[in-house]
Amino acid sequence: MTREELKAAAVRMLDRAYCPYSHFPVGAALECADGTVFTGCNIENAAYPVGTCAERTAMGKAISEGHRDFVRIVVAGRSEDYCVPCGMCRQFMQEFAPQMEVICLNGKGEEMSLTLKELLPHGFDHSFL
Ligand code: THU
Repeated sequence: MTREELKAAAVRMLDRAYCPYSHFPVGAALECADGTVFTGCNIENAAYPVGTCAERTAMGKAISEGHRDFVRIVVAGRSEDYCVPCGMCRQFMQEFAPQMEVICLNGKGEEMSLTLKELLPHGFDHSFL
């Protein structure tokens, strides 16, 4: 899948977001090393902390299907600012793909590309245990 196709897949997921509380849809498209793509959206809950983010939805789908080798993820929002992953998602992604590229989109489809290392410097990982 091309970069533009991956971005389009993340944007399409905005319509699948279940976000009746925040009204802030997020879509994600995660590309594995073998080219497989898993998508995700945020899924909120009346008990607010139970909700989950688009990135962790996509990561959970991938990992549960046997994929752990990730190359890049697109995170799409509809706001003016680039939609960056929350702290919990950064930590979650670091477990599997510390070198991954994170492509953040704003509502215009413009992108800001960062590495996970840039988003989470000095992250806690297995080497501390
Ligand atoms: N959200 C994500 O899906 N990904 C992020 O990394 C940022 C936040 C969702 C969670 C919640 O449903 C909504 O955006 C507002 O915080």
